[in-house]
Amino acid sequence: MVGIEGIDAVGKNTQSLLLSKWFGKKGAKTTRMSFPDYDTSIGREIKSFLSGRRTYPAELQHLLFAANRWEKSEEIRLRLEAGEIIIVNRYTESNLAYGMANGLDAAWLANLEKGLPRADLVIVLDAPPKSLSSRRPGSRKDAYERSSSLQRTAQKAYRELARKRGWKLVDAERPIKEVQAAVLKTIREAILVDRGTTI
Ligand code: TMP
Repeated sequence: MVGIEGIDAVGKNTQSLLLSKWFGKKGAKTTRMSFPDYDTSIGREIKSFLSGRRTYPAELQHLLFAANRWEKSEEIRLRLEAGEIIIVNRYTESNLAYGMANGLDAAWLANLEKGLPRADLVIVLDAPPKSLSSRRPGSRKDAYERSSSLQRTAQKAYRELARKRGWKLVDAERPIKEVQAAVLKTIREAILVDRGTTI
């Protein structure tokens, strides 16, 4: 499982799509997943606080983000057991970065994720929020996206966590094709290290 991470509007969706196509062309059975998954009962609850319809303490918000992954954990496990490659647009790592940016304790956050299938490789698309603000109109932004200070702190948290936890940073302040080339380079290097082989 490969996690594609980073702050809002950094290009995760585009890069996940390109990456799953690349794996598909190599003949690998590939599935794309995305969190939050807004189609579940907990996902709908997440939507309600992100859209401002409900107000929850930060602890409950991040509990719900984690619970949303637990809702899908069996499906993820089965897909991995069947040999599928899962490209996941946001996962556990989002809750660590954004939870820390929201002032929560890193160990408390990590505990919520204990026992979930883990990503084998985490790629963080890295760009300053300032350079991304024009990418999405304000009307389409949720509560987290509208907070430029949260985005800034989340970017810092991603960088710090990447250093500590071995997540791979990719400079995303460049054209899509260049970012994709850097993502593929990271994938190739990871496969070389893991298996002593290349694809
Ligand atoms: P989205 O814009 O990718 O749908 O995500 C909505 C927000 O939720 C985004 O600002 C990041 C945040 N988030 C967390 O804080 N923890 C999580 O576990 C996930 C999946 C997202």
